[in-house]
Amino acid sequence: QEHVHAGTPAFVSIMEYLSRRPGVSVRAQEIKGAQQTLTELYLIGDTATLDREEIADLPGVEQVVRVSREYRIVGRHQDDFRPSGFEYNGVTFSQDSFELFPGLCAVDNREHVDRTFAALAVQGLRCARMGAYKPRTSPYAFQGHGAACLPFVFESAGRHGVRVIAMEITHEKHIQEINDALSAVGQPTGVMLQVGTRNTQNFELLKAIGRQHEFPVLLKRGFGISLEESLNAAEYLASEGNQRVVFCLRGVKTSLGDPHRNLVDFAHVPVVKRLTRMPVGVDPSHSVGRRDVGPDGIEDIHHAAAQGVIAGANLVLVDFHPAPAKALVDGPQALTLEELPLFVEDMQIAREAYLKRRA
Ligand code: E4P
Ligand code: PEP
Repeated sequence: QEHVHAGTPAFVSIMEYLSRRPGVSVRAQEIKGAQQTLTELYLIGDTATLDREEIADLPGVEQVVRVSREYRIVGRHQDDFRPSGFEYNGVTFSQDSFELFPGLCAVDNREHVDRTFAALAVQGLRCARMGAYKPRTSPYAFQGHGAACLPFVFESAGRHGVRVIAMEITHEKHIQEINDALSAVGQPTGVMLQVGTRNTQNFELLKAIGRQHEFPVLLKRGFGISLEESLNAAEYLASEGNQRVVFCLRGVKTSLGDPHRNLVDFAHVPVVKRLTRMPVGVDPSHSVGRRDVGPDGIEDIHHAAAQGVIAGANLVLVDFHPAPAKALVDGPQALTLEELPLFVEDMQIAREAYLKRRA
């Protein structure tokens, strides 16, 4: 029917009904989709005594979903009809979409930024990654150029038709820095705020990012915590109001020793898509972490990325650099710009394989 929102008679009658239920509080959230707008009411508290059928019979109620898991908003629940994903700056992110995000692990200079965006443009790619704020294990390691590099990154991105840049932030103040730089440059490029694996349980940062609605979020799986704990981190973002979250697998630490930088966890792509409604990405660079090549002549990083894509990944975040030996961060895991066409072709093969399996 007509959209039930605050002030409509249906909304008022639902809220009156719920106000008579002690111990139950209500959070309302509007989800604007391409075809319809949903008002989601999250009932929190003593909901066990609520009569699901009685609520379903209230005028304007489309469906009642009883959620039991901790991650109530991002979680996928029994007969859950809510749409997955979102649209941002002309790009759709859902459990059916597919985007490549190649780029610099760490922004170093204008020339490398420009060459990287130019290489993406040749491939017709519209999304990229660029690291301005770099969380490092050692305080002596390069921490990133920070806000100083944003003007030339966003100017170059706009000139090369980049619509979305995944950019990690490590402090709430970086949100305003990015906002200001985007406004000053005036290009049509947008930013997906990235939460790095070292900040997956930085709850105050998650709350701050969840409170803002300007930018969607790419949340890295925590490399030293469980998948369940990482999914709860996504719930922090959504519970504060920002449900535009892509969950990105990036490998996990292991005490068992591993030939790669981390134990690659891309088999969890279908698991996350089953447990939640979030689009799922993979980062083969930070998981594999090395430019090793197998006897088949294919990079381990290509293989890992293809594994994730054939499993249904919706996004691939991957490090490229014009001269990896000169990279300021994670050079050993960066692919060269000359390899980009082959990588794109590889990912297309893997994506077609996934779609063929699903057909
Ligand atoms: C991501 O790009 C990180 O900044 C980088 O991988 C951190 O690696 P380190 O913790 O070994 O410095
Ligand atoms: C990154 O993608 O730049 C990054 C820091 O990755 P992670 O947080 O997964 O280590």
